[in-house]
Amino acid sequence: MTIHTRRFGRTGWDVSEIGFGAWAIGGSWGTVGEDAAREALLAALEAGTTFIDTADVYGDGRSERIIRDVLKEWRGPRPIIATKAGRRLSPHVAGGYTHANLETFVDRSLENLGVEALDLVQLHCPPTEVYYRPEVFDALDRLVAAGKIRYYGVSVEKVEEALKAIEYPNVVSVQIIYNILRQRPADLFFREAKARNIGVIARVPLASGALTGKMDRTTTFPPDDHRQFNRQGEAFDVGETFAGVPYDVALDAVEAIRPLVPAGTTMAAFALRWILMADAVSVVIPGAKSRAQAEANAAASALPPLSGETMEALRTLYQTAIAPHVHHRW
Ligand SMILES: NC(=O)c1ccc[n+]([C@@H]2O[C@H](COP(=O)([O-])OP(=O)(O)OC[C@H]3O[C@@H](n4cnc5c(N)ncnc54)[C@H](OP(=O)(O)O)[C@@H]3O)[C@@H](O)[C@H]2O)c1
Repeated sequence: MTIHTRRFGRTGWDVSEIGFGAWAIGGSWGTVGEDAAREALLAALEAGTTFIDTADVYGDGRSERIIRDVLKEWRGPRPIIATKAGRRLSPHVAGGYTHANLETFVDRSLENLGVEALDLVQLHCPPTEVYYRPEVFDALDRLVAAGKIRYYGVSVEKVEEALKAIEYPNVVSVQIIYNILRQRPADLFFREAKARNIGVIARVPLASGALTGKMDRTTTFPPDDHRQFNRQGEAFDVGETFAGVPYDVALDAVEAIRPLVPAGTTMAAFALRWILMADAVSVVIPGAKSRAQAEANAAASALPPLSGETMEALRTLYQTAIAPHVHHRW
């Protein structure tokens, strides 16, 4: 299997258009054993993935350490590793985004990942106020100058935060929720991102698994799975859980999508292929907990483009059934 590559903004990197989201192999998604976690990541690498997204807080460093251990044994091309910083702050407030704190977080990620410099550090959905503090971006410039990080970007909740962040000249990437149930980034942000040659990372591409078509109203989740404990945004932004779409509404949408999926294609791969239709997207980062999931997701890159008719049907579905729940919020 091969995965097509795309240019990652101004970095000069060519990365696989299907990456690997490493949140679930860290924590907050129920129990994912060490062997399953390694197998999932290894399967993605074997399928041709060359971009991994993680964060210092995923399993309090477990995700980063699993990546380090798998890559120690991996003999294929060295993937780009994007990590995130900021969420170790407690309380998580704009004033905490100082050079000293960021350097402490970066040093810990360097150790967890076992590397001399971090490829890409993303501010991890900071308070909106952070985007109005140039000193935060100056601090990141200093970490680049010190050789601890190669590039930096942001992971945002809202389109408006993305638009503000890319005014800083050294922000090379934006990570944002973009999937069939979250279409707003395509309206304005993608145009601006392309104009500034920003790397765009599409996260939560399967709406936390809902867009795989495997869930129904009887599906249950363990207490330590955010699809149980963050259903109403109790622990973090509700937009990160089922993309912020009420569960029943998402399930109805999935039934409307099902007839559009060609025979022989999984709905997961179809949902990822929909994202790849946007040329502003540099890489999509589905999470996976097993070899089978990672392989099914990688297969999206080989699918033919979706037809104009299918794209139109998904746009109409979004506008009529989903937008009223999410469009004004993020
Ligand atoms: N604030 C931030 O910056 C932020 C927030 C969220 C996510 N992210 C990043 O984005 C990545 C992706 O988002 P996500 O992990 O939240 O959601 P996602 O990719 O939409 O969904 C991932 C989940 O869907 C299920 N799944 C994946 N592939 C499947 C397949 N082929 N068939 C059936 N089920 C499948 C798995 O869970 P089950 O098997 O348990 O259903 C998996 O953990 C994360 O890993 C993380 O790197 C960043």
